Amino acid sequence: MSNSFTVIGHRGARGHAPENTLLALDTGIRLGADWLEFDVQLHESGALLLFHDLTLERTTNGRGLLATQPFEALRQLDAGQGQQIPTLEEALELIEQRAGVNIELKTADGTAEAVAGVVRNYVAAGWPVEKFLVSSFHLPELWEFKQLAPEIPVGALVGGVPLDWAACAIELGAASLNLSSEFVDPRLITDAHAHGIKVYVYTVNDPAEMRMLQALGVDGVFSDYPERALAL
Ligand code: G3P
Ligand code: MG
Repeated sequence: MSNSFTVIGHRGARGHAPENTLLALDTGIRLGADWLEFDVQLHESGALLLFHDLTLERTTNGRGLLATQPFEALRQLDAGQGQQIPTLEEALELIEQRAGVNIELKTADGTAEAVAGVVRNYVAAGWPVEKFLVSSFHLPELWEFKQLAPEIPVGALVGGVPLDWAACAIELGAASLNLSSEFVDPRLITDAHAHGIKVYVYTVNDPAEMRMLQALGVDGVFSDYPERALAL
């Protein structure tokens, strides 16, 4: 696989460790992922938490909605193998620039502002802006992020084939279009590339599918097993 094919550990490296935990991020780094993707939600306490679902049951020993639990109670939960639900700052301290950081905004209503504040602090402390990619399916929230921190690259998440192809990514000034593997269409790839936008595909765990996507010209994949993409 050429060096230009980007391998992004999905939720850290969820094939090997509990998703969106510090252990998963550390595992992704150890496996050699170029980038680490994780999901971030803004909690009412003001904390930015690494968490995918709205509810706690699937990935922790808690019950109910994450949003209705106090921060301290959430931090008591076991997110797998004794891991805590991490904060964005804890994730960045662990990564220490050893991999690119793809922060996926899962919530809206202030999430862009909160994440922009944290990312800008790290940039002010010496992190290159190219180490970050902020993405979301919630394109208005991503637009808000881009207005607040135009220097930070963003990725438009798409779970389908838009009527106007890559137009949403173009309008956002996005560095990438992060596309579901179910909806890979050569015309979408061509349109993105014609506008200098990378195409990264999620979530790809089968090496044969990785090879097929590489042949189609995609620029990288999100994988629960980053070592599979690195080994091709
Ligand atoms: O960011 C790529 C991918 O993580 C988007 O889907 O549901 O796994 O967050 P999801
Ligand atoms: Mg995600």
